Amino acid sequence: MVIEELIEKAREAQKLAYAPYSNFPVGAALITEDGTVFTGCNIESAAYGATNCAERVAIQKAVSEGYHSFTHLAVVGREDYTYPCGICRQVIMEFAPKSKIIVSGKDDYVLHNAEDLLPYAFTGKDLL
Ligand code: THU
Repeated sequence: MVIEELIEKAREAQKLAYAPYSNFPVGAALITEDGTVFTGCNIESAAYGATNCAERVAIQKAVSEGYHSFTHLAVVGREDYTYPCGICRQVIMEFAPKSKIIVSGKDDYVLHNAEDLLPYAFTGKDLL
């Protein structure tokens, strides 16, 4: 699957966002080594801290289906680039430190190495 198709999947997921408090719908889509795609949208709560970001929803769906890594993850927010929050960067580093993160804008996208988005990450290696 090409990057544009993954962005399109994220856009479709964004339509399902439950974001009545922020009115900031986000969609995400990741693809695994074998080409399986998982999507996610943000899911808010009246107790704001219980909100789940789109990226983590997609990752949780993948992990709960037995996929513990992915090669690419696309994020779609507003027309400006929407970057993964700090908590999502930590979770991305947990499961896919070598992945590419696609941050979509209105008509284009930027591609980042996950590890560049969270330098000096604390990971499982630190616990050995
Ligand atoms: N949000 C995401 O889902 N992903 C991001 O990358 C940034 C923020 C959500 C969380 C919350 O529902 C809304 O956007 C505003 O912060």
